[in-house]
Amino acid sequence: MIEIDWQVLHARAIEATASAYAPYSGFPVGAAALVDDGRIVAGANIENAAYGVTLCAECSLVSEMIMGGGGRIVAFACVNGDGDRLMPCGRCRQLLSEHAAPGMLLDTVSGIRTMDEVLPDAFGPAALDDYAQQQRSEPRG
Ligand code: THU
Repeated sequence: MIEIDWQVLHARAIEATASAYAPYSGFPVGAAALVDDGRIVAGANIENAAYGVTLCAECSLVSEMIMGGGGRIVAFACVNGDGDRLMPCGRCRQLLSEHAAPGMLLDTVSGIRTMDEVLPDAFGPAALDDYAQQQRSEPRG
């Protein structure tokens, strides 16, 4: 089993805040994750003058992971500009869930939690697969 060093992940998340591009909110965010092949990936938020186009730190983290060879997230940490733990926003919980290793853990404001605890009964690829299979066996109208 892969070992999780939460201190290292927290430090890497803090380091990542230095790369944040957050001129509109003034709220830098850094995130770091341990991938199932042992590498650590990180991300920072990247804002946009069209506010809704903003990329959360989790977006750049997942991009780095996929572009760097893929994999699944085993452990995740996220902080604000003061280094305080931050909960991933709802959209980013969905994003992380898609790329989670079984039993993925998060360093949250209320302690170490599983992905299932922070996004219970998550929508995911299985819902699409189940529907497609159902359609093949019993097509609608
Ligand atoms: N933000 C993240 O990067 N991740 C989250 O999970 C929460 C919010 C960013 C988006 C925006 O640049 C700033 O925090 C303020 O909302």
